[in-house]
Amino acid sequence: MICYFNGQFLNISEIKISPFDRGFLFADGVYESIRTYNKKLFRYKDHLDRLKKSLKEIRIDFNDFNSIENIIYDLTKKNNIGTEALIYLQITRGSVFPRTHSFPKEKISPTVFISVQELKENQEERLNGVKVILQEDLRWLRCDIKSTSLLPVVLASQKAIEAGAVEAILVRDWNITEGTHTNFFAVRDETVYTAPKSKLILEGITRKVVFEFCEKFKINYREEFINKDDLKNFNEFFITSTTKEITPVVEIDYWKINDGEIGKITKSLQTVFQKVTEDY
Ligand code: PDD
Repeated sequence: MICYFNGQFLNISEIKISPFDRGFLFADGVYESIRTYNKKLFRYKDHLDRLKKSLKEIRIDFNDFNSIENIIYDLTKKNNIGTEALIYLQITRGSVFPRTHSFPKEKISPTVFISVQELKENQEERLNGVKVILQEDLRWLRCDIKSTSLLPVVLASQKAIEAGAVEAILVRDWNITEGTHTNFFAVRDETVYTAPKSKLILEGITRKVVFEFCEKFKINYREEFINKDDLKNFNEFFITSTTKEITPVVEIDYWKINDGEIGKITKSLQTVFQKVTEDY
């Protein structure tokens, strides 16, 4: 596997990162996951804008954005990616000795890592829906930053896997925020609900695409928190992300929704999503 690391294309086995890298020591970094449709980067500008925002918010001084797109396309060629690609990009504040919590006094270069791998489509999940569990949202209060500091997410995700579910949906003060790596939606009275843009959620790009579809096809949507105790008053649920696209949720904490039948609005949004991405 050839990856991009600090200005070079290297075999994964040649990449050496200092243990004093602040990404390793403090999770002092940010990331993006991007995918292709028809071998073209999907909503690249949105991902780049989000990356710029994350970097700005944690004050990492990195400006070399122009070359990223070409690096990604070069990586797909160098790795002979035959399918659609999944791109992982991470930038940390860089490496410095000795370990100190505050920013280093001297100027250091951010560590930049980009990998590209074959994307495994999960048709089954999108067709039949998935099971999710609810978990307390133990993350920090800046979930709008795509930070690599993901320990609460790791633990909640693992709980989901151990419960035979694919995602943990996070609850903070009775409000559903989002999934560990997805945004969460519920539908009632032909209206789509999802948590509002705030510091408590990541503004997903697929979430934004769903809003665009709702506007185009005159489906009502509201950015409002869904209360955990109100969940049973909704009749359709789905999660969204770059890799999950629009995936129906058919079970929440052992509550089987509509006997596993996928809701009407969820299905129509999936149909539009498929059309848009097929033609991308
Ligand atoms: N996760 N919320 C969280 C906390 C996420 O980590 C993600 C993405 C999303 C959905 O965002 P988008 O639609 O832009 O993919 C929402 C990516 C896929 C990841 O962690 O790899």
